[in-house]
Amino acid sequence: MLLKTKKSWEMPEAAATPEAVWMNRRDWLKSAGYAGMGMAAAGLVAGGLPRAALAAPITGFPADRNLRYRLDRDVTPEKEATTYTNFYEFGSSKNIWKAAAKMQTDPWMVMIDGMVDRPMTLDAADLVKKLGSMEERLYRFRCVEAWAMAVPWTGVPLARLVSFAQPKAGAKYLRMETFLDKEIAPGQAQSWYPWPYVEGVTLDEARNELAFLATGIYGKPLPNQNGAPIRLVLPWKYGFKSIKSIVRFTFTDQRPISFWEELNAKEYGFWANVHPGVPHPRWRQNQERMLGTSNYISTQIYNGYEAEVGYLYQNMETKSYRDLYH
Ligand code: MTE
Repeated sequence: MLLKTKKSWEMPEAAATPEAVWMNRRDWLKSAGYAGMGMAAAGLVAGGLPRAALAAPITGFPADRNLRYRLDRDVTPEKEATTYTNFYEFGSSKNIWKAAAKMQTDPWMVMIDGMVDRPMTLDAADLVKKLGSMEERLYRFRCVEAWAMAVPWTGVPLARLVSFAQPKAGAKYLRMETFLDKEIAPGQAQSWYPWPYVEGVTLDEARNELAFLATGIYGKPLPNQNGAPIRLVLPWKYGFKSIKSIVRFTFTDQRPISFWEELNAKEYGFWANVHPGVPHPRWRQNQERMLGTSNYISTQIYNGYEAEVGYLYQNMETKSYRDLYH
């Protein structure tokens, strides 16, 4: 995914996104009353609420496994999946897990806004509680860079967040955004990237049974490097769609432009559905290497999830067939 040189798409953050969106997470927490040391020391946050009422880690691990989701391959060793990670906020190498440890994930405020009747901001643990009981699912995961893994995620279906938010009738897309805080995320000082990381899906995709809001992996809360405390997992799409450490869910009638699409739309499109027959300029797409092995195995259309998601893309009006898979 590496793109080092400054390109014409470079622009100041302020020109790209409205203030509420690019505001530093620290400032945002402050304005929401979460970073006041005095209040924190007194055990209080904004509104005089006891800190403990809002800041509590997500609980419920390990969750029961949903046996509907099965694998055709071995589960990737935990060490591989948690030490070989893509999280550009902390650097462009795969070895960022130590750097990511600096991120504070409790409290973690999440905003739900846009085309909803009741926009709100709430702590991630509170949100997860409102979305109902968590479950574990074994999913395949395929990065466009041709490595793959198979891991047990814990979390809740994304469809529950959509129902909870009650989007207005005209809303068509769900846009998601990662935190912005250059002080803890050195990668965000690299101004040629269009921070914050943004991803989006259609509401039909968000309601698909496979779309998953993960809070954990291997039966434990997500380690920071895998996107703590809450991230998306879309197993039929290339891994870059599975945005980490989400702070904002916005319902909109405009198709969101994602981080990688903004950088290079020819290589990283909006749909990004896994397809072994549509080559990428830099990585083979007909085969994948499972993390922890040196063997290549065949990649399947929609990463093997055609039965679950194929209906989403039938009779779709796109510029070309290839659009759906980049
Ligand atoms: N989300 C954010 N915020 N920042 C990132 O750099 N990388 C993406 C995706 N989500 C990324 C992100 C890419 S390219 C991939 S392949 C997956 O996260 C990797 O997830 P994993 O590191 O948990 O395997």
